[in-house]
Amino acid sequence: MVPLMSKREIRIVGSTDELSRAAARVLLRCAKEAVRARGRCALALSGGATPKKLYRLLADEGEQFRRELPWEKIQFFWSDERHVAPDDPESNYRMAAEMMLAHVSVPPENVHRVMAEDPEAERAAREYERTLGEVFHLSAGEVPRFDLILLGMGACGHTASLFPHSEALRERAHLVVATWVEKFKAHRITLTPPVLNNSSLVMFLVSGREKAETVRAVLEGPYEPDLYPAQVVRPTDGEALWLMDEEAARLLGQRDS
Ligand code: 6PG
Repeated sequence: MVPLMSKREIRIVGSTDELSRAAARVLLRCAKEAVRARGRCALALSGGATPKKLYRLLADEGEQFRRELPWEKIQFFWSDERHVAPDDPESNYRMAAEMMLAHVSVPPENVHRVMAEDPEAERAAREYERTLGEVFHLSAGEVPRFDLILLGMGACGHTASLFPHSEALRERAHLVVATWVEKFKAHRITLTPPVLNNSSLVMFLVSGREKAETVRAVLEGPYEPDLYPAQVVRPTDGEALWLMDEEAARLLGQRDS
């Protein structure tokens, strides 16, 4: 039995633009490899502001990524979603559709958004879990293995919609849960740690000075995922790649002065 490998790589690039370009190169390589090996690429997109430039770059007509990505062989999912309608300005689906999907030829049946317009967030989570089961042809209890999951990290150390002290951090039975986020006074729907940690590659995109303290705590501090949920992401047999700009990484490798 080949020992399971959980690898972590930290890659620091100069600016936010370079961050998006470096991420696009990783995504392109990963997608090509997955399609070569399995005939398709299972990709989960993250929300928030950081990936906007990446999505725009991938769809940019003047760039190699748009030409070389096997768009029609990518199955698009989301790492998490706000509990809003798909046309809501807060929607992670809307952001990715506006920045990227509306500008490239992806078969609609390959875009699997969370039905977050459902007034019942828990029902939306169950529906998304059913979608994962169908698209990945999962048997009962099986966990999907994504080729690439994109994640961000909030300044509080959350990732996807796994927030500090959330029950969702300890979820091991479900693939998707609805979670109440007190600070937003709203529900979120999120992939759970078993799915994130079954991915072949998880790529964190982190940018900005305001995240530097949290980046250091997550990557160099004690393992306290209840405080820093991003720490829960350690792919069992895969890799976590932390792609950051200089600003976000500026405190790494420094001991407390
Ligand atoms: C969301 C994201 C969330 C995000 C972080 C970082 O729905 O907002 O999934 O986990 O990745 O909050 O967000 P920024 O990129 O905007 O800093």
